[in-house]
Amino acid sequence: MSYHSRHFLQLTITLLFLTAVKSDDGAVMTKLSTSLTQTPSSWSTNADYCKWEGITCDSSKRVTVISLADKKLSGTLVPDLNELSQLKTLAVQRNSISGEVPILSSLGNLQKVLLDSNNFTSLPSNFFAGLTILKVFTVSDNINLAPWGLPDYLTDVTNLQTFHASNANIVGTIPDIFSGLTNLQNLRLSYNNLTGELPRSFGGSSIQNLQLNNQKQGLSGTLDVVSLMLQVSQVWLQANSFSGAIPDLSNCSTLFDLQLRDNQLTGLVPASLVSLPKLANITLHNNKLQGPVPEFKSAVKVDKYQIKNSFCLSKPGPCDPQVSVLLDVAGAIGYPYSLATSWTGNDACKWNYVVCDNSNKVTIVNFAKHMFSGTISPAFANLTSLRTLSLNDNNFVGTIPKELTSLPNLQSLNVSNNDLSGDTPVFPPTVKFSFGGNPNIGKDVSNTSGSGSGSGSGSGNAGGGSNGSKKGSSGSGMVIRIVISVIFFVVILLFFSYYCYAKKRNQKLVKVEDPESGKEIVKASVIGGSSNAYSVGTELQSRGSSDHAAMHVFEGGNVNISIDVLRQVTDNFSEENILGRGGFGVVYKGELHDGTKIAVKRMEAGVMGTKGLKGFQAEISVLTKVRHRHLVALLGYCVNGNERLLVYEYMPQGTLSQHLFEFRELKTNPLSWKQRVSIALDVGRGVEYLHSLAQQSFIHRDLKPYNILLGDDMRAKVADFGLVKNAPDRDGKFSVESRLAGTFGYLAPEYAATGRVTTKVHVYAFGVVLMELITGRKALDETMPEDRSHLVAWFRKVLISREILVKATDQTNCL
Ligand SMILES: Nc1ncnc2c1ncn2[C@@H]1O[C@H](COP(=O)(O)OP(=O)(O)OP(=O)(O)O)[C@@H](O)[C@H]1O
Ligand SMILES: *[C@@H]1O[C@H](CO)[C@@H](O)[C@H](O)[C@H]1NC(C)=O
Ligand SMILES: *[C@@H]1O[C@H](CO)[C@@H](O)[C@H](O)[C@H]1NC(C)=O
Ligand SMILES: *[C@@H]1O[C@H](CO)[C@@H](O)[C@H](O)[C@H]1NC(C)=O
Ligand SMILES: *[C@@H]1O[C@H](CO)[C@@H](O)[C@H](O)[C@H]1NC(C)=O
Ligand SMILES: *[C@@H]1O[C@H](CO)[C@@H](O)[C@H](O)[C@H]1NC(C)=O
Ligand SMILES: *[C@@H]1O[C@H](CO)[C@@H](O)[C@H](O)[C@H]1NC(C)=O
Ligand SMILES: *[C@@H]1O[C@H](CO)[C@@H](O)[C@H](O)[C@H]1NC(C)=O
Ligand SMILES: *[C@@H]1O[C@H](CO)[C@@H](O)[C@H](O)[C@H]1NC(C)=O
Repeated sequence: MSYHSRHFLQLTITLLFLTAVKSDDGAVMTKLSTSLTQTPSSWSTNADYCKWEGITCDSSKRVTVISLADKKLSGTLVPDLNELSQLKTLAVQRNSISGEVPILSSLGNLQKVLLDSNNFTSLPSNFFAGLTILKVFTVSDNINLAPWGLPDYLTDVTNLQTFHASNANIVGTIPDIFSGLTNLQNLRLSYNNLTGELPRSFGGSSIQNLQLNNQKQGLSGTLDVVSLMLQVSQVWLQANSFSGAIPDLSNCSTLFDLQLRDNQLTGLVPASLVSLPKLANITLHNNKLQGPVPEFKSAVKVDKYQIKNSFCLSKPGPCDPQVSVLLDVAGAIGYPYSLATSWTGNDACKWNYVVCDNSNKVTIVNFAKHMFSGTISPAFANLTSLRTLSLNDNNFVGTIPKELTSLPNLQSLNVSNNDLSGDTPVFPPTVKFSFGGNPNIGKDVSNTSGSGSGSGSGSGNAGGGSNGSKKGSSGSGMVIRIVISVIFFVVILLFFSYYCYAKKRNQKLVKVEDPESGKEIVKASVIGGSSNAYSVGTELQSRGSSDHAAMHVFEGGNVNISIDVLRQVTDNFSEENILGRGGFGVVYKGELHDGTKIAVKRMEAGVMGTKGLKGFQAEISVLTKVRHRHLVALLGYCVNGNERLLVYEYMPQGTLSQHLFEFRELKTNPLSWKQRVSIALDVGRGVEYLHSLAQQSFIHRDLKPYNILLGDDMRAKVADFGLVKNAPDRDGKFSVESRLAGTFGYLAPEYAATGRVTTKVHVYAFGVVLMELITGRKALDETMPEDRSHLVAWFRKVLISREILVKATDQTNCL
């Protein structure tokens, strides 16, 4: 709008000026002749400017044409040119003119402006304002132009026929303005830095010559709109990032020159392209085109398109039948780039997601969980040996083709968790057919293309899944996905190592010798890996003799520390030194005389009761037996009257829950994904160690972010052993408790239901901690609506769809 008002103002001023003052083109031409250097010899100020070389005047000596192409001119164009109100043509191409292109908005008669191959430094952003009858504008090959974008208001230049601005430093996207430019025939914007997709309004336009090749970063998206450019004859789109299949161009009957090389096009070359009547010149190499090599008529000039593509053979000829079928399958999901790069050659048995039997017949196609979107091709029915077809966990839409029921060997068809609709075909009873997680199945939604929301029932599940996938995944989404995979990998690893270990630990014994005496002290079990080696070492320490172990624990030779020392190091338990408060007391910070930082947990007499006393004893008895890099070390304890004090190593970064849930209040950075993974691994190692002690297994029973403490390096240690239980978790034995211990949200269901406690409660609690690390949400969050407040239940729902899972990840830190 502002430009319109400015434009109006300019017009008004110009009109006033024109009516008041008799214009003097001679003065303007004199200025121009001095601002340009090396003007032609006839450009003498003594001579009549209408007789100057390249100048044409009308009968009243008004300049109508300035034509100075190829004159080796340098210098600049003066702003006063805007006073030559009768000027129709300004042609200064192929010189070395520099400086700003002057604003010519008062020149209502201007039809041609030719500025190419000069050294202009900028084009005013409102240059095209007022130039309503401009037909030709060229500014190509002005490499020193300040970066500029194609303006939306170009639609005002309704007579525009030719717009050449190749190699002119244009940035940004191509605006969707071409339905307004009905006269535009030639559009050349090659060698710029245009990005984004081809505008829809190219369809139905009159463009004949379209050159958008060699963009720095590359135009992207599909070429679909080209099929609607019915007047087009030359299309240069090479050296960009276009993707998808070449559309059916059979309606582009005048097309003779099609340059598509160096893109990321996939799919079959349409037969209609080969039979285009006027085609004379085509390039296709360096894409990912699939299927049979096309055979062009001999009159057509083609590049070496057979190379650097994904054709099934190196020369024209039909592909293997199974290859043809699978390409049809790929076509139904839009020929994804990932398949176009991996499904090459003519042997489908070598392809990803495909398994064959001994006679090279495809028996398994496994597309599960690949974010494919599109329809299920009925051509699957041609793979007669197919036994297993897994299409679950994608974004397939449309119906399940009934042709699949004719597959004679089909045993399993899984289409769960997609967005399929329509009737489910009836399969023979021998087929295991899974189609859960498709909210629209059984409904006819053939009308509604995008709005799956019409159904009220399918809330949450796959409803939102169809959306994001069509755009592909963003970079950060990818990172999150990788991190999730890593975390799941870690979980699986832990499970396996633990169960393997449980099996082996009574079998595999290793002799360990005291490094000093050389005496064999103990036989301990190991399964390899540094953390186990470490645990053996620790065990040595604790099993040798318990008072010997105590010596290691505290420098004073006794874990019993006097209350006076503790008073002293905590400034008499001053308020400033409080680190936090727990269920049984206050934790203070302190520093021993040798500089060791400590945390002192002071359990006060009144609050403690017998439960607290038990916790105190449990904590001492456990922590004097176990020591591990990822368990908070107990340095000592103190009994003073009714007071019980425990002294730990100090963990400067506080609890994991602070970093996960309170980082905003505490003004700290959210945890990076790398840190989250390393914390998960640390906690896993600490817990695994507790399991792996040969003599007895300890069960923490209260594993949660509040009890995971972090050091300055953000490495984690498990703390708070007040609820630890000594469990005979061997040969399926377990202990039964009458009273539950732990925290809601982290209790394993079998423990909560039966009171049976085994080390498996750690696996559950650890899983909850992982979920919290991934989502940044609390195990139980009362501030959330009821259906989402329980993280585990919600996470299970979310796990169904990768889309939602990615959305569910903690977005505070995308590394
Ligand atoms: N070793 C330590 N280093 C630094 N801070 C600590 C340390 N131990 C505890 N804290 C701080 O003190 C707070 C209370 O810790 P603690 O784990 O002792 O509570 P608690 O009494 O065990 O609570 P509950 O038993 O109800 O879980 C923690 O939130 C933490 O911020
Ligand atoms: C173009 O202009 C720049 C300064 O803007 C100058 O350095 C360069 O030499 C000019 N190039 C030509 C070919 O005139
Ligand atoms: C092209 O433009 C994009 C942004 O649109 C920018 O990130 C990129 O650096 C540019 N490339 C060049 C070579 O100028
Ligand atoms: C070509 O044009 C005809 C008539 O408008 C239309 O029916 C047909 O679908 C078009 N073909 C393609 C491939 O767009
Ligand atoms: C084919 O295209 C190339 C460049 O893409 C061009 O140089 C050549 O003149 C074209 N040939 C024909 C016959 O159009
Ligand atoms: C599948 O088989 C049908 C019937 O035999 C045939 O018409 C069709 O072309 C085949 N499809 C592919 C992709 O081979
Ligand atoms: C089908 O896929 C779903 C979702 O991944 C899975 O839960 C189910 O077990 C699968 N069914 C069969 C029969 O494999
Ligand atoms: C499809 O849409 C039309 C018009 O929008 C509507 O009349 C028709 O009932 C719809 N059909 C179905 C099956 O939804
Ligand atoms: C789905 O896509 C539309 C259009 O791109 C967008 O406006 C909307 O926010 C998206 N919805 C979700 C849930 O991502």
